[in-house]
Amino acid sequence: MTKPAATLLRLEKLARAAAKKSYSPYSQFAVGATVLAGSGKTYAGANVENASFGLCNCAERTAIFSAVAAGERKIKCVVVYTPTPAATPPCGACRQVINEFGPSSRVVSICDSEDRLDLSLDTLLPGAFGPGNLG
Ligand code: THU
Repeated sequence: MTKPAATLLRLEKLARAAAKKSYSPYSQFAVGATVLAGSGKTYAGANVENASFGLCNCAERTAIFSAVAAGERKIKCVVVYTPTPAATPPCGACRQVINEFGPSSRVVSICDSEDRLDLSLDTLLPGAFGPGNLG
């Protein structure tokens, strides 16, 4: 059986590799993300920007939408790599999208140093609005 630490290392490598596919000509901020989905499969994504700046899509959401489009409905872990000296947490929009499919997700942020964040989605988005609030 694969140890969780090995799985996390694999997710981290995939997130770093995904950043190389980033389309970020406006920010020059190449982000990569990987999702560990309910099936055990992994899905990677990068940020995809647009000349209409408001349409930029974060790496986390690209990865999550790929997972969902492949038939996944549960997210267990999200790893995000940013090209920064310090680890950065996901933006608010991505937290909300993570909540939709993985309210108990582990969210790990890695960067260009040894710095890292390893938090639960519940910590990042306490009191979240989700599917259960629609009545
Ligand atoms: N970005 C991400 O992809 N993920 C984050 O967690 C933070 C921000 C992207 C959005 C935009 O393309 C660029 O980084 C600058 O904000």
